[in-house]
Amino acid sequence: MRRQKLTIVGAGNVGATAAHWAVAKELGDVVLVDVIEGLPQGKALDLQQAGPIEGFDCRVVGSNSYEETRDSDLVIITAGIARKPGMTREDLVNTNTGIVKTVTEQVMKYSPNAYLIVVSNPLDAMVWVARKVSGLPRQRVVGMAGVLDTARFRTFIALELNVSVEDVFAFVLGGHGDLMVPLPRYTTVGGVPLPALLPKARIDALIQRTRDGGAEIVGLLKTASAFFAPGAAVIQMAEAILRDKKRVLPCAAYLEGEYGVRGYYIGVPVKLGAGGMEQVIEIELNQEEWTAFDASVAKVKEVVDAIKL
Ligand code: NAI
Ligand code: 2OP
Repeated sequence: MRRQKLTIVGAGNVGATAAHWAVAKELGDVVLVDVIEGLPQGKALDLQQAGPIEGFDCRVVGSNSYEETRDSDLVIITAGIARKPGMTREDLVNTNTGIVKTVTEQVMKYSPNAYLIVVSNPLDAMVWVARKVSGLPRQRVVGMAGVLDTARFRTFIALELNVSVEDVFAFVLGGHGDLMVPLPRYTTVGGVPLPALLPKARIDALIQRTRDGGAEIVGLLKTASAFFAPGAAVIQMAEAILRDKKRVLPCAAYLEGEYGVRGYYIGVPVKLGAGGMEQVIEIELNQEEWTAFDASVAKVKEVVDAIKL
């Protein structure tokens, strides 16, 4: 059987960490691509040399061009810049739109049948750009944010209750921004709904910490944003697709009427398997949850509608 091939564009913090998780799970051979000369080659060689120690048997190659990525089964796009002091949100959108557009064009040239998972921010807009530029069906292009946001919420709940994170299941919907929508009603600890275990004030505090989760880490790191959990999150999605696991995970999916949204990427629960984004799972929301969801969708639309391709 042919080994599966995974390309990761952007060999920075998230890209290199994702490559690490990918080979640790032996998902397949990995190609790292970046515009900085030597960076993807150096990180690839270093990671390859961890193989004999950790016992993984994958080829890891770094490149500044796309020939090596030919016939990839799945491509993860982490290329882009993060916001710096003095930059507007629009500056970031414009710069990363250009980067994601170029990267997608190059990826499609060599791997027209690949699945794409976008990580670059602003996520819900950049995954929209990748789908538009690639022309791929929505099943083949998804964005990573919900798995990360949900993992943060699960972590904070487990810490608060002093329980194993393995028993905490959480739900976060909406865009990957300050208005994301953690849903305590659908969050359980060992099968028990969260509102039965914690007072509303504590749940609200954990929700706020989840919404601020990215900013909390930027505040600590100062010159970088989170990368361990984002790298793990995107590889959980890649594994679900490459190993046809039919996982139900919160992902940015292109909606065609589900949740009352058409033509935008929004974080919702989906089934991920060999068919990519195989199904959008619709859940019932109450009035308060709809209000929060609609506000988050409005924010995503505002960013996407300002994009000039
Ligand atoms: P980083 O700065 O460490 O790495 C980005 C890499 O992209 C750099 O090595 C850079 O040289 C490369 N790059 C830039 N233009 C390129 C191009 N045209 N082709 C190939 N490579 C190119 O940044 P980091 O921390 O890895 O984050 C990457 C992106 O992911 C950022 O936009 C960040 O905001 C986003 N992010 C999104 C998350 C999510 O939940 N969706 C979570 C964490 C990060
Ligand atoms: C995060 O949530 C930066 O979007 C990234 O950590």
